[in-house]
Amino acid sequence: MGSKTVTLLKRLLPYDPPRWAQGLKNIPRNLIRLSPRDDDKVGMINPWNLPSIPKQFEVFIRREDAIGAAISGNKVRKLEFLLADAIEKGCKHVITCGGIQSNHCRITALAARELGMTPHLVLRANIGSESDVGCEGNVLLNRMCGAQMYMVPKLSPYLSELKPRMEKLAETIREKTGEESYLIPVGGSNTLGVFGFLTVFEELLPRIPWITDIVVACGSGGTVGGLCIANHLTGSKVKSVSS
Ligand SMILES: Cc1ncc(COP(=O)(O)O)c(C=O)c1O
Repeated sequence: MGSKTVTLLKRLLPYDPPRWAQGLKNIPRNLIRLSPRDDDKVGMINPWNLPSIPKQFEVFIRREDAIGAAISGNKVRKLEFLLADAIEKGCKHVITCGGIQSNHCRITALAARELGMTPHLVLRANIGSESDVGCEGNVLLNRMCGAQMYMVPKLSPYLSELKPRMEKLAETIREKTGEESYLIPVGGSNTLGVFGFLTVFEELLPRIPWITDIVVACGSGGTVGGLCIANHLTGSKVKSVSS
């Protein structure tokens, strides 16, 4: 085992699920912190003064973006479990997929690079090849961290096209380098990634026990999925709404 692998293994933190989650299957053993955790920022919940809402409602915004800079936002929560698994499995490459400007892909690429793994991104766009992609937004950050980008048509479905493409890529990498790749589904939403949002729920509720509804954006579904599982397991009566 190389010294880099040993250093990474030392960064893993044992995951201790909350009591209400202990009956779940496939509980991750470890996680890795991808952004500095400042307790004040983790708990940051700001009042949001929307002019048009009726007076009896109060709206707060949870600052999930405040946990870091380029590596921040809701995707970090899932990646802290997924990349810990990649480290445990000794993978040298991380492959994921999403839209051309996907935040999930950008954060995965930066985090993988920071951990010494090579990022590969299968990106949906109607563009011929990587050289035609340009340098805007997240693509610039992908380029800056040396992520390999592979284009697929914009409407490619995950199961029939993106997933097989990622598997083929892993096979090619194995043949060429003898190294293993870790595959992350679109948005990092799978049974492991979802634990990130059990953690968010665990942090959130004691801080704002009076809330009645949680509203989140929905892309791949892991964020709202994790919150709903936690809501059910804790017996909380908070309503989760996603759009
Ligand atoms: C800020 C924000 N919130 C929520 C979501 C949805 O997350 P998920 O892919 O877990 O449904 C996304 C991603 O699309 C996002 O960027």
